[in-house]
Amino acid sequence: MTEPTTLSSAEDLSESIVLVGGGGHACALLDVLRRLDRWEVIGLLDPALEPATDRYGVPVLGGDDALRPLVERGCSVAIGVGQTTTTSPRHALFQRLREMGASLPAIVSTRAYVSPRARLGPAAQVLHGAIVNADASIGANTIINSRALVEHEAVIGADCHIATGAIVNGRSSVGPRSFIGSGAVVLHSLQLSSDVAVGAGAVVTASLPAPGTYVGVPAKALP
Ligand SMILES: CC(C)(COP(=O)(O)OP(=O)(O)OC[C@H]1O[C@@H](n2cnc3c(N)ncnc32)[C@H](O)[C@@H]1OP(=O)(O)O)[C@@H](O)C(=O)NCCC(=O)NCCS
Repeated sequence: MTEPTTLSSAEDLSESIVLVGGGGHACALLDVLRRLDRWEVIGLLDPALEPATDRYGVPVLGGDDALRPLVERGCSVAIGVGQTTTTSPRHALFQRLREMGASLPAIVSTRAYVSPRARLGPAAQVLHGAIVNADASIGANTIINSRALVEHEAVIGADCHIATGAIVNGRSSVGPRSFIGSGAVVLHSLQLSSDVAVGAGAVVTASLPAPGTYVGVPAKALP
C-alpha cells in the first residue's frame, strides 16, 4: 500500500480531513471545508492526478491505496465526487468508506442555514448559501448544493443531489439517488420517486411516481 508522501505514518489524524475526488465538486467543497475551522484539510485523493502535485491549493496524496491508512489513523473523509444523473461512483465510494469504518461527517458551510430542527444523514453536504429549513430531512451522502433551498418538512432521500439554486418546497419528498438540476423548482407536497433526474430550470407541478428524466415547465418525462 502507498503511504501518503507528506505525512508521518505515526501521526494522529483525528482532527484532519481528506477529500476524495479532484473535480469541480471537490473544488466547491474544499472552499466550504476551509472556512469551517473544524478540521485540517490534509489534501485530496484522486487516482487521475499526479501524486505530490497541488490541486486547488492542497496536496494530492495519492489514489485509492492511500485511503485506508488515513482512515485507520482517524482521518475523516469528505466525498468530493459529484453526481448528476449517474449516482453510482459517489454511492460506491460511500459504501466502501462505510465498510472501512471511515468517519464521514455531515458538512455544513458556515454560509448555509440548517434549522436546528432539520436532520442530516452521514456525509450529507450543505454548501454555501443553501437553506435547509425546519423539520426537513436530508439523507446520507446527499448534496445540497450552493444556494439550493429545501423547505420545511421536505424529505430528501440518500444519495441525492439538489443542484445549485434548486428549490424543493415544503412537504415534498425526493426519492433516493435522484438529481434535481440547477434552478429547478419542485412545488409543495409532491412525491418524487427514487432515481429521478429533473433537468435544469424545470418546474415539477405533479408527483413523479416513476424513475426517469423530466424536463421543462411543467416538467414532462423525456422519452
Ligand atoms: C435533464 C438532463 C439531465 C438531460 O440530459 P440528457 O439525458 O443528456 O439529455 P440531452 O441533453 O440528450 O437532451 C434530451 C432532450 O431534452 C432537452 N433538454 C435537456 N435538458 C433540458 C432542460 N434542462 N430543460 C429543457 N429541455 C432540456 C434537450 O434539448 C433535448 O431535446 P431534443 O430531443 O428536442 O433535442 C440535462 O440536460 C440537465 O438539465 N442537466 C442538469 C445540469 C445541472 O443542473 N447541473 C448542475 C450542476 S451543480
